[in-house]
Amino acid sequence: MTALSAYLCPVCTAPLALAATGKSYQCVQGHCFDLAKEGYLNLLPVQHKHSSEPGDSKAMLNARRAFLEAGHYEPLANAISAILNNEATAMNQPLRLLDIGCGEGYYSRKIHMMLPNIEWHGLDIAKFAIAAAAKKLPNAHYVVASSKRLPYCDQYFDVVLRVFAPSDEDELQRVLKPFGRLLIVTPGPRHLAQLKAFIYHDVREHADAIACPAGFTRITSQRLSYWLETYPSERAALLQMTPFAWRANYERQQALQAPEILRIETDFILSLAEKNC
Ligand SMILES: C[S@@+](CC[C@H](N)C(=O)[O-])C[C@H]1O[C@@H](n2cnc3c(N)ncnc32)[C@H](O)[C@@H]1O
Ligand SMILES: [Zn+2]
Repeated sequence: MTALSAYLCPVCTAPLALAATGKSYQCVQGHCFDLAKEGYLNLLPVQHKHSSEPGDSKAMLNARRAFLEAGHYEPLANAISAILNNEATAMNQPLRLLDIGCGEGYYSRKIHMMLPNIEWHGLDIAKFAIAAAAKKLPNAHYVVASSKRLPYCDQYFDVVLRVFAPSDEDELQRVLKPFGRLLIVTPGPRHLAQLKAFIYHDVREHADAIACPAGFTRITSQRLSYWLETYPSERAALLQMTPFAWRANYERQQALQAPEILRIETDFILSLAEKNC
């Protein structure tokens, strides 16, 4: 076996080491995990799965990919990149970053182009999302796992990025270095308000700030909002990638498709926090 890696065995939590073949990782107890042909590692054992295909469905992922690749959320990728660039400059060494619930890696790719020195790790519970992400960005380290049980060594990361994805506070604490940074992106009050108006009779707005997770101190909170001009096919994709898609019955979907162009607000909150020590 070669040097120990960033990973912990998901079965017994012992450190994993890359085998001499370079094609699998093993722990001292002999649990072995092969790298997939796309280069990712599946560290989600069957006993930790609650369904055969956990996470977002293929349809949701395909819709998100089409929408994101069209560039609609590029200003968000740029804003995340600017924050990370500040952190990297202050740190004076290559950052180790974990993108938690990374989906099929849109933000990883965009940000990697702007900040190629970041050691980029991505994790998602959906295997086909990770396979797609790993194929498109072979320089990054992708893992199938749950954010509730992060398969990484204690204090491995400088930064954890969480964009519209779930996480576990204790696990965030554990994998971040002392004074490590947590960057969380959540929807602001006006996010997709015009789309939601087609779905809900009574549109509830999101809060304009999120609670800082226990064990962290907020450094900054930044709001980013702008308007999108959307065509019917883009609205169909946008609806499919949101949690309110299942509420849209046939009539509402038809109504949403009717306008040739619909202007929709985006509203993102980017909260940067520091881990307490
Ligand atoms: C709304 S999507 C956001 C994806 C990506 N961050 C983006 O903004 O494009 C939420 C992602 O979290 C993943 N996810 C859901 N539950 C998870 C869990 N317990 N552990 C890891 N990922 C999870 C889903 O599979 C999905 O890819
Ligand atoms: Zn093990």
